Amino acid sequence: MSDTSHAGPKWNYEFVTSGAPRQPNESSFKYNVRKLFTVKTLESLAEDQRTSELRKALSVFELTMIGLGSIIGTGIFVLTGQAAATKAGPAVIISFLLAGLAASFAALSYSELASMIPISGSSYTYTYATMGELIAWIIGWDLTLEYLVGAATVSVGWSGYFTHFFYDGFGIQLSPSWTSSPIIFNHTSSAFELVPGAYFNVPAFTIVVLLTILLIIGVKESARVNALVVSVKLVVIILFIIAAGTRINSENYQPFVPPNEGSFSKFGITGILSGTSVVFFAFIGFDSISTIAQESKNAQRDLPIAIMGSFGIVSVIYIAVCVVLTGVVSYKKLDSPAPLSVAVNETGLRWLGVIVDLGAVCGLISVILVSLMGQPRIFLAMANDGLFLPGIASKIHPRFGTPYIITIIGGAICSIAAALFPIDVLAELTSVGTLLAFFLVNIGVTILRFKAPNARRNFKVPGGPFLIPITGALLTLLILATASPASIGRLFVWMAIGLVIYAFYGRRRSKANNPQLIDKEHAMEMRPINEGSEQSGDAETSRTKITKNV
Ligand code: ALA
Repeated sequence: MSDTSHAGPKWNYEFVTSGAPRQPNESSFKYNVRKLFTVKTLESLAEDQRTSELRKALSVFELTMIGLGSIIGTGIFVLTGQAAATKAGPAVIISFLLAGLAASFAALSYSELASMIPISGSSYTYTYATMGELIAWIIGWDLTLEYLVGAATVSVGWSGYFTHFFYDGFGIQLSPSWTSSPIIFNHTSSAFELVPGAYFNVPAFTIVVLLTILLIIGVKESARVNALVVSVKLVVIILFIIAAGTRINSENYQPFVPPNEGSFSKFGITGILSGTSVVFFAFIGFDSISTIAQESKNAQRDLPIAIMGSFGIVSVIYIAVCVVLTGVVSYKKLDSPAPLSVAVNETGLRWLGVIVDLGAVCGLISVILVSLMGQPRIFLAMANDGLFLPGIASKIHPRFGTPYIITIIGGAICSIAAALFPIDVLAELTSVGTLLAFFLVNIGVTILRFKAPNARRNFKVPGGPFLIPITGALLTLLILATASPASIGRLFVWMAIGLVIYAFYGRRRSKANNPQLIDKEHAMEMRPINEGSEQSGDAETSRTKITKNV
């Protein structure tokens, strides 16, 4: 990591330009289109950072643990085996390398933007500063999908492992009526259907409620619980690699690339590509570190270290797990909800079986926790910009220093979704949504290199403005292209709902485009907007500091 910027102030104020008033010769249509591309200035982002009431409590270690907590989950515990058994065979190792390569480019891009714009809100905030309000809204809405739906999805998966663990550990079979989703998606008729005899997924609902309460109590407390859970998960995975690694039989690697069976996704080279889009899910999560930027002690320095550190650690772990998994057992046997347990059974190491189950239960808890932590912070950033939910929703708890109202709203939606809906459709939707975010973050790096060439960057993606960001963007598009048309269709439906909300609420309440709302709000608070900055609190001047129309 190097400081490649010139010496200078912590923030460079390069976007201080005109506000949004309609020009005398500008048509109403042109004016409204222009407003859609209003960017939030680096300066106003700095103002957000200065005035944030969130508690700056997290060290680089805790940030890295949050990254590991969020990344290592269903992907390695479940999808690895399924991708090996049904798509790539032992060459799932190559699928992982390809997915890791695509994700690493995004990790580098996230690191540069996080070192430059250390504001909660992740790619939503970066996009607001680069591509304007409409695209920022789209990505903010998209991130809601990634975190909220992702958390609900993993909670349903956790419920399955929990029930399994309860049976294995204590011999008690919990009733399926109260531990599974009452709704399923029928792929043949393409319709949702009710499952007879299933009512409510109680474990999935309960875990979301408990983790939401923890998140309200404090980000520091949540980070501590996360660090504990992540430690257990890492120890379990390392035990698996070492203990099962002694039982590798090299015959299991033959054939390394099983011949294609006639369809795109069934083995052969195309199977490896198809496996790549499945295991990509395993790398999702490092981006959640950037949603808590404002609670970091030294965001500009620590965020890039934590993002790249956690990414590097999981990459090594994932490849090692793949090598051991496909070396211990024939890939044909790995199509199971618990493939690591299948491999352990093959080795005859029974003690390791219970430990691996425990690791999965812990592993999934931290993924849910960090998703539930990231999601309200996206809502918070959007609410602070006036784009979503009234201002009251972004209130910070006076004692705990957390965005408690938005955390409760997110937790309520997520717990209901987790209690009622099935896992499969939503998991794919999460991946598709994340790929879109990664694409925009990669492009954002290139755009900001030209728009703000001299802004301070504590970390810079190597190789210039094009090589890594544009290759990364193309790779994410390639993986997106291998996703099922149904999930891309659902992404469009989700986006359409979001655009309606933007048209009727966000566009009208946007602070960037409606500076009079800021003036009113600040007049009510009796606090000048430019407090602590070099300019006066005069309304017209404050307007010119907030936005730039491109
Ligand atoms: N990477 C996370 C997981 O694998 C989302 O569960």
